[in-house]
Amino acid sequence: MNKLLRFFAVIVGIIQLGTAAGLPSSGGKWQGFERGMGIGGWLTNYKRFNVLPENKRLDLTVGDFEHFDSFITEDDVRKIKSWGFDHVRLGFDQIVLEEAPGKYRERTFRKIDEFIAWCDKYGLNIVLNLHKSLGNYCDIPEKIQLMDDEILQNRFIALWLEIERRYHDHPDIAFELLNDVRDVDPEKWNALADRAIRAIRAKNRERWIIVGPVAWNNPPELPSLRIWDDPKVVYTFHMYAPGEFTHQRGVLKDWALYWNQIVVYPDKNCDRIKHRPDPRPFDKAYLASEMRNAFEFKRQHPDKILWLGEFGTIRHAPKESRINYMRDVISLAKEHGIPYCVWNYLSTPNDGNRFSLVDDDTREFLSEELLKACLGE
Ligand code: BGC
Repeated sequence: MNKLLRFFAVIVGIIQLGTAAGLPSSGGKWQGFERGMGIGGWLTNYKRFNVLPENKRLDLTVGDFEHFDSFITEDDVRKIKSWGFDHVRLGFDQIVLEEAPGKYRERTFRKIDEFIAWCDKYGLNIVLNLHKSLGNYCDIPEKIQLMDDEILQNRFIALWLEIERRYHDHPDIAFELLNDVRDVDPEKWNALADRAIRAIRAKNRERWIIVGPVAWNNPPELPSLRIWDDPKVVYTFHMYAPGEFTHQRGVLKDWALYWNQIVVYPDKNCDRIKHRPDPRPFDKAYLASEMRNAFEFKRQHPDKILWLGEFGTIRHAPKESRINYMRDVISLAKEHGIPYCVWNYLSTPNDGNRFSLVDDDTREFLSEELLKACLGE
């Protein structure tokens, strides 16, 4: 090799150290992350923020810490594995891990350490998901906006670097940058996600990094999400359509409270849901149409991994309907080669939107049929 060629080879090598561009493609498959269980209600959604006055929302109280110390235990992790799930998606909030800029909470990080050790023991893969960051609480209005505030953005990046530092020796843990990105300018979110990816890549070439689109990770926004030339970036979306069914009689949304209506799935008779301008019946064809942008994404980017990171139904939706819904969403995902993670294991009674799949006391699946549906059987 002449000197010039050798010089270029060295430069390319240096550039690739900071990217994952040289790694082999996954071929669009995410081994070990095919059917997952979401864990909310523990380090996120631990209480109903929207009834607290604004100046009290970001406080952590003695009761909150007691909850973090006790809500999820080794036995929960053991059960999730024994049912047949292969990964867990652990949601946590920024304030639960970060006391002040650059000052992290050892007490709660220790809970994550323990959780990781339990997952290692039972053989579950892990997604760490920043569920509520400062300036991006998905279900309450806020004055500060992550996408417009450089100081918050720096804290966001610093938190991920801290997580990378702590879990650097756990190469298989996936980092999901931000849950339910609000309805912000997609370019602002693409730019922040890009910064975070570059920062993490500079420390770890192989880390799985998960990014979803704006507007609560809804499928219609997938086309506005940047595509990275990086086989270790995973793309995600959420599926909650039809909201009238999945969020029925929920206490966080005014319309759900107002209509206060029991909705079944499937339902051919949508006239019954009088407030609904869309006349289509609720059935598998309806779900397929709501997920069409995800299928299109897979068609356009067969080598990229697209993961359905969240979907589910409120706990008090009719039992049979919950099973039917999970079965149909999962069968559509599987037909299109999309791995998935159900939402969620257990919500606390004081979370606004209880999407629990297990019983509060026994922590057993609410029914054998629901478990089978969630496993895609
Ligand atoms: C949020 C969860 C919430 C769920 C049901 C999702 O978009 O990420 O925190 O529990 O919606 O409302």
